Amino acid sequence: MERQAARIAVFLSGGGSNLQALIDGSKAGILSAKIVWVVSSSAKAYGLTRAENEGIETFVFKPKKYPSPESAADDLLNKLQERKIGYIALAGYLKLLPSIVVAAYSKCIVNVHPALLPKYGGKGMYGHHVHEAVLASGDKESGVTVHLVDEIFDHGKILDQVRVPVLPEDTPDTLAARVLEQEHKLYPRALNKLIRDEYGVNNE
Ligand code: GRF
Repeated sequence: MERQAARIAVFLSGGGSNLQALIDGSKAGILSAKIVWVVSSSAKAYGLTRAENEGIETFVFKPKKYPSPESAADDLLNKLQERKIGYIALAGYLKLLPSIVVAAYSKCIVNVHPALLPKYGGKGMYGHHVHEAVLASGDKESGVTVHLVDEIFDHGKILDQVRVPVLPEDTPDTLAARVLEQEHKLYPRALNKLIRDEYGVNNE
């Protein structure tokens, strides 16, 4: 399979502020790679508009529109290969990737999660659910995790983390905003380090 490290696909389901951070990081030279394809699980995701505003090709991936899950997975992998995508960055993508894609892009798929994994991860732990659980726990800190993606939600090797304090007056919204700010800083830098193999994942 021909891949080019500098060609990235971003998968999302929602607002796409992390997509924007990757695009901006790429323009600023923090991320030495280009976002060339944006895939959304929803036609309504604002992330698609952000991509279109930047002239980036988009695709809405709906496995149920295919005759079988296998044909959907094959089509997605073909499309990634046709575009010579080297890395996949999940940015608020609420679905699991098909296993053949995970296998073809082993150690080349990353996700950003708004908590300090392995705490507060797994199915159903997204958006405000994460921050509500952190506040309910009484933890004094939360944070951001960038990790490799495997076939289990929020499970692959942790590459990088940033800690964020939890304040006594925090609501899920205020905590989410403080964490999101750090996501935008960490994600382009962490993806850049992965591409340059600075985490040493290829030696494992
Ligand atoms: C972020 O909090 C990210 O950590 C999580 O989903 C959210 C996506 O936000 N995986 P956005 O769509 O990038 O604004």
